[in-house]
Amino acid sequence: MKGKYYITTPIYYPSDKLHIGNTYTTVVADALARFKRLNGYDVFFLTGTDEHGQKIQRIAEKKGVTPKEYVDKIVASIKDLWKLMNISYDKFIRTTDDYHIKAVQDIFKKLYDKGDIYKGYYEGWYCTPCESFFTETQLVDGKCPDCGREVEWTKEEAYFFRLSKYQDKLLKYIEEHPDFILPEKRKNEMINNFIKPGLEDLCVSRTSFTWGIPVSFDEKHVVYVWIDALSNYITALGYGSDEKSLYEKYWPADVHLVGKDIVRFHTIIWPIMLMALDIPLPKTVFGHGWLLVDGGKMSKSKGNVVDPVILSEHFGVDAVRYYLLREIPFGSDGNFTSEMFIKRINSDLANDLGNLVSRTLTMIEKYFKGELRKGKFEGEFDEDLRRVALEVPVKVEKLMDDLKVSDALEEIWTLVRRANKYIDETMPWVLAKDEENKDRLMGVLYNLTEAIRIVSILISSFMPSTSVKINEQFGFEGTILTWEKALEFGAVDALLVKRGDIMFPRIDVEKKLEELEKLNQQKEAKKMVPIKPEITIDEFDKIDLRVAKVLEAERIKGADKLLKLKVDLGGEERQVVSGIAKYYEPEKLVGKNVILVANLKPVKLRGVDSYGMILAASTEDYSKLVLGTVDEDIDAGSQVK
Ligand code: MSP
Repeated sequence: MKGKYYITTPIYYPSDKLHIGNTYTTVVADALARFKRLNGYDVFFLTGTDEHGQKIQRIAEKKGVTPKEYVDKIVASIKDLWKLMNISYDKFIRTTDDYHIKAVQDIFKKLYDKGDIYKGYYEGWYCTPCESFFTETQLVDGKCPDCGREVEWTKEEAYFFRLSKYQDKLLKYIEEHPDFILPEKRKNEMINNFIKPGLEDLCVSRTSFTWGIPVSFDEKHVVYVWIDALSNYITALGYGSDEKSLYEKYWPADVHLVGKDIVRFHTIIWPIMLMALDIPLPKTVFGHGWLLVDGGKMSKSKGNVVDPVILSEHFGVDAVRYYLLREIPFGSDGNFTSEMFIKRINSDLANDLGNLVSRTLTMIEKYFKGELRKGKFEGEFDEDLRRVALEVPVKVEKLMDDLKVSDALEEIWTLVRRANKYIDETMPWVLAKDEENKDRLMGVLYNLTEAIRIVSILISSFMPSTSVKINEQFGFEGTILTWEKALEFGAVDALLVKRGDIMFPRIDVEKKLEELEKLNQQKEAKKMVPIKPEITIDEFDKIDLRVAKVLEAERIKGADKLLKLKVDLGGEERQVVSGIAKYYEPEKLVGKNVILVANLKPVKLRGVDSYGMILAASTEDYSKLVLGTVDEDIDAGSQVK
């Protein structure tokens, strides 16, 4: 064993909508973990889920289940996704696991006893309906940025973590350990934008919700977010429990792999927590870039499918893994569109790798009935192929040590392309014409097979199933597949090959894009609320719809969803109560031409009479609601039919 290697992903928020962007961190961590195992390290690869917080509590309440019931279901689906993506984690931690809860309580208490956590007040602008605090700058026109309602200056008792005390020590540490924050640009960002301007103490408990780890010595508080979440990297190894052997063996972590959005928490709060606990710091926090769709945030647009399950069904898991690992350059952002994805599969996988494998197998079967042995090695092409084959693994090892995963894949492809070029240079089909060249022909196919064996070892960390498929077809097995043998050209003795199915059939780009677009449309249609049963025109005619001009609008005391409107119908004025207070400020409604169901039986809402109903369009979950209005100005009272 070369040593230990402890690598982690962030623990994921439970979400049933993980997209390929989310899967990026985990796929990269998996490639690194697999590579280090291959390379002779004793690897521990950790991933998991970050399950507490108000958001989860609210969603569960809405669904009428307990938060634990809700997260259990989602965590199961996340585990299924990792299984599908072939993620070889050694442990999956859940922040709802008992050992984690106990260890976090101990950590919190230790920090409190040391004086690094103290009790104070959390102050801010509070929106009661949203149950959220906002800073002055987050407010929009002095109102809640989420719902637009009034906010109140509120004080809540809370515990704080003394980040400020450790500011200088942290800065010194970062400066003395150049590999602690990578890549370099993120380090500079942390130092200049956050640490040097001064660290504020961090609020680490809440009393406004209950779905969290209770503070053991003050149970009305729950631990708030980061102390709970970040601790997972040590609690998973047994820190704070009686069984600490993993902790003793693997800590400190070699790499915390995180997206750029959470580098700040991992390079400021986390090292300070560890310093305060007298625990050594991880060697490297690597902040990777994001996968964007058409340069923007990951969402489905213009036929782009971003669901990793659907993409895997259509293109295979290894194609998805390949794209993720190849497309995001070291530390920067990468782009995703279905079209780029398909084109990349066609060029790199179908054309380069797939062709190399199938051409070589076909020729060994055709010219030698599948029986391969050593043949004549001669000339500059052979020398050059061997040189590249011997250089690439060494370069790949270095690039993987430097976490340059995409560059490592590119490097492997120089060997794939070199081997393809070797076929064109040596022209085995010409050699095959003459019996005298048999030994030379065997030599050419042998060299190709060796190049492919090395490629197969190298890609096994990135595309594990593809590597297995190649090995099966060539009959590679046992010791010739070890890392040491990737550094040797000529390790194969004799083989019997058997060509299987084409690994990456060429995809018709236009046709596939159309198919994906249809799939997206079907998914949208499925989401649509079902259309109600048919009615006749006479039935519709019973409804009297009118254009109504809003003259006045005001809130109704004690009914925070309702507004009382006075509208003009041309010949008369009416009072209407409408449930749109969450979406519209009363003063913004005055002058609007809305559509009123004018012959609806009057009702009393919260003690206020309503003569009719105003029409509005809303999403199914009511996250958005807009009033139905008429396109241009028209006389109040006009009929809508
Ligand atoms: N729960 C926190 C992490 C706590 S770690 C102590 C969290 N979870 S997350 O589910 O929101 O994010 C998980 C990972 O997905 C993060 O590394 C995040 O950066 C990454 N990504 C989310 N969207 C992404 C892309 N579009 N592209 C690449 N990675 C992205 O943050």
